[in-house]
Amino acid sequence: MAKIKVGIINVTGYAGSELARLLYRHPFAEVTSVAGRSAAGQKLGQVFPHLADMELSITAELEGRIDIAFSAMPHKASAEAVLPLLEQGVRVVDISADFRLKDPAAYPEWYQFTHPAPEALCSAVFGLPELYRKRIKKAQLVANPGCYPTSAILAMAPAIKAGIVEPDVIFDSKSGVSGSGRALSLTTHFCEAGESVSAYGLEGHRHLPEIVQELTLLNRHRPVSVTFIPHLIPMTRGILTTSYARVKKGKLVGGKDELRKLYQDFYAGEPFVRVTGAPPSTKHTYGNNMCLLHPVLDSRTNRLVVVSCLDNLVKGAAGQAIQNMNLMFGFPETAGLEALAVYP
Ligand SMILES: NC(=O)c1ccc[n+]([C@@H]2O[C@H](COP(=O)([O-])OP(=O)(O)OC[C@H]3O[C@@H](n4cnc5c(N)ncnc54)[C@H](OP(=O)(O)O)[C@@H]3O)[C@@H](O)[C@H]2O)c1
Repeated sequence: MAKIKVGIINVTGYAGSELARLLYRHPFAEVTSVAGRSAAGQKLGQVFPHLADMELSITAELEGRIDIAFSAMPHKASAEAVLPLLEQGVRVVDISADFRLKDPAAYPEWYQFTHPAPEALCSAVFGLPELYRKRIKKAQLVANPGCYPTSAILAMAPAIKAGIVEPDVIFDSKSGVSGSGRALSLTTHFCEAGESVSAYGLEGHRHLPEIVQELTLLNRHRPVSVTFIPHLIPMTRGILTTSYARVKKGKLVGGKDELRKLYQDFYAGEPFVRVTGAPPSTKHTYGNNMCLLHPVLDSRTNRLVVVSCLDNLVKGAAGQAIQNMNLMFGFPETAGLEALAVYP
């Protein structure tokens, strides 16, 4: 079978270079064009020696015929790059936030730009396969979820959908520094981020509306109140989110066994979500496409607590994007994504 041709926009960012790395061994897809802004004209291997075997040159725009484009651009710039491709009939997975939110008014509020194609927000499919698998298969445009929202939504989806918790959820998330991207900034400077942990986005992080949107849909369109506090921690990759919600009166009377069964049934057959018997660590997902979930019932406070973790660049970005591509083209969902986590 001929491989499909893949283009990556902004291959020189962390999400873009991770896409290239993961796609290198994909059995049904071949990266044929990679675009980047400041590195245009250079060999991919000059910028990223670990990708030298791909023998590709970075161009200013995607070149040649492609079957699918991944955009790993910053928000706003991504929509501008993606819209002409959609007009040409190319299928797209956008890793930025530009098509994740259904309400156009959310863009000026959270991302400080007016959305250039509000109609595309209706047709774009939120690329969380565990919730939208059927729709992703047919989509021309898939909006790949954010890294924090993937860890948060997967953690609370079974409980919210089953109506066993009050619609008031707290997500306490920790992310490695690559979550902030490859561009240099003072906060991600080694001396600032190393040996330190800090909270940020306390007045409302950009991933909040995405989490609220999806949990509200799962709650049969009834609003869910969400407190989401991200933290930066001194490691390269990984997100660990601890989620808290109070169990409704009369629910979960079967205790931890009922809870475990609820989560196991919800994710039965899912190749990239595993309900674990012990609290997972980010190291268990380092470099692979898994999201690990550990739900527990705190019977003293009657709170559901769920620990979830994933690799922000894989299940939180490039790996999930490839999972979506696999669905869009009818490939086995796990194609190219079978790698185990790197250890130690
Ligand atoms: N990092 C993650 O864990 C993660 C997870 C999920 C989603 N995402 C999303 O994926 C996208 C890429 O994120 P990333 O972390 O890979 O980014 P990144 O590594 O920080 O890449 C940003 C770089 O993009 C380049 N760029 C190209 N065109 C640009 C333009 N028009 N405006 C501004 N910069 C431009 C710039 O590099 P040059 O100046 O060299 O061109 C800039 O330094 C973002 O939308 C992000 O929200 C990231």
